[in-house]
Amino acid sequence: MAEPQIGICGLGTMGSALALNMAEKGVRIAVSNRSPEVLPAFLAKAAAFADRVAARDTLEALIDALPRPRLLLAMIPSTAPMDELLDRVMPLLEPGDTVIDAGNADFHDTRRRAERLAGQGLHFVGMGVSGGEDGARHGPSMMFGGSQESWQVLKPVVEAVAARFDGDPCVDRMGPDGAGHFVKTVHNGIEYADMQMIAEVQDLLRHGTGRSPAGIADIFAAWNAGPLGSYLFEITETVLRAEDSHGGGPVIDAILDRAGQKGTGRWTAIEAVRLGQSATMIEGAVAARAWSAEKSLRDRAGATFGSDREPLDIDLGTLESALLAARVLEYAQGFRILAAASQDYDWQLDFARIAEIWRAGCIIRAKLLDDIAGAFRDGAPEGQLFLAPRFHHIFADGIPALRKLVSAAIAAGFPLPVLSSALAFWDTMRQPRGTAALIQAQRDFFGRHGFDRIDGQDHHHGPWWD
Ligand code: 6PG
Repeated sequence: MAEPQIGICGLGTMGSALALNMAEKGVRIAVSNRSPEVLPAFLAKAAAFADRVAARDTLEALIDALPRPRLLLAMIPSTAPMDELLDRVMPLLEPGDTVIDAGNADFHDTRRRAERLAGQGLHFVGMGVSGGEDGARHGPSMMFGGSQESWQVLKPVVEAVAARFDGDPCVDRMGPDGAGHFVKTVHNGIEYADMQMIAEVQDLLRHGTGRSPAGIADIFAAWNAGPLGSYLFEITETVLRAEDSHGGGPVIDAILDRAGQKGTGRWTAIEAVRLGQSATMIEGAVAARAWSAEKSLRDRAGATFGSDREPLDIDLGTLESALLAARVLEYAQGFRILAAASQDYDWQLDFARIAEIWRAGCIIRAKLLDDIAGAFRDGAPEGQLFLAPRFHHIFADGIPALRKLVSAAIAAGFPLPVLSSALAFWDTMRQPRGTAALIQAQRDFFGRHGFDRIDGQDHHHGPWWD
């Protein structure tokens, strides 16, 4: 085989799927894994592309096989193992070489690692890869963060394997150092909010209107054919139709209602707050997962206070319009975090491009994203997605629908941590005079913090300090 274009270390589920995708698309690869015992099985899977795949028993041999400037992609946990890998490879690499972390990393770690490698003339790339195993194997959406030099070398490889939307590869350079991993983190925050929003509506339909999982799947299928169309509705339909292979009945009823989380949704909420922002829909989804983990406490509280809920009478058109408005608001919140980070870290993120590369391959891919990209390309007023004229018609129907949905659900005893946050965000942002005058007065009263006056004179104290 001619010289490999890229070395891949870490042949777990995602690493081997991405490696096979590359080989299939004509990229020459060399691979290694911490335990080399997995190599024969990988080579067997890659047999059809054998002329493009080389395996090496050690990391040292892998690096040795790569032409300069080297591209070394690591698909391993982005925590301590990534630092250990860097300790090992840094003495073996030469100025101009690039190490790519394709896992879900905390972007602060990515920035730290980029600085560390830069000290030796090396490049460190943080690249978010979305789409799960199937995406990695057949076409993921990828968010590159790193130097222009690394991007120029890596671009042909990742463009060959990325998902495509109307022929446009769903991969691009987001910016330097941690920009790619940050964009991926916010992608996951939006993913959390979208999943929770779907789960909330599913709960209303099931326990408020008494529909079966298969009946709800029919509704989701109909919505999926319209403007709500998205991968997450698509898979939810399939999930709700699935039967339990251990005992019959819908599999959803056999699953313990305790959600896992690896951390990216939580990071989004933490970073939003750190940046002086708040993404309440994402925070609501993180909270819902955290509360879901407290199963025995919920059992006890339910036994103590009762867990009854009232029947709900709500039409499907109202639900569909409400969900669409809430989805625009969830993206609006996500992009507000991206805007705050872009300013803080001077990344100059291109929001339209981000929406474009999320149109295919990733978990949050949705029809709406093409419009979101268009709204940013047109220049959303004040950079705010929810002010973009093309969404006004969605809000005209959707906000009254959301209000009806949230108030009916709350009155009936259903919690809607994400959908109710969407409405609180909307009602707060459309109010020129909110609640903060009283907060300022209280702060001044107990802490002499002062306040600005509406007549423009600044920093005054209340009469309580006269
Ligand atoms: C993706 C997914 C992927 C993964 C998350 C799930 O974009 O392909 O987001 O990265 O499924 O890690 O995260 P949680 O375990 O936190 O739900």
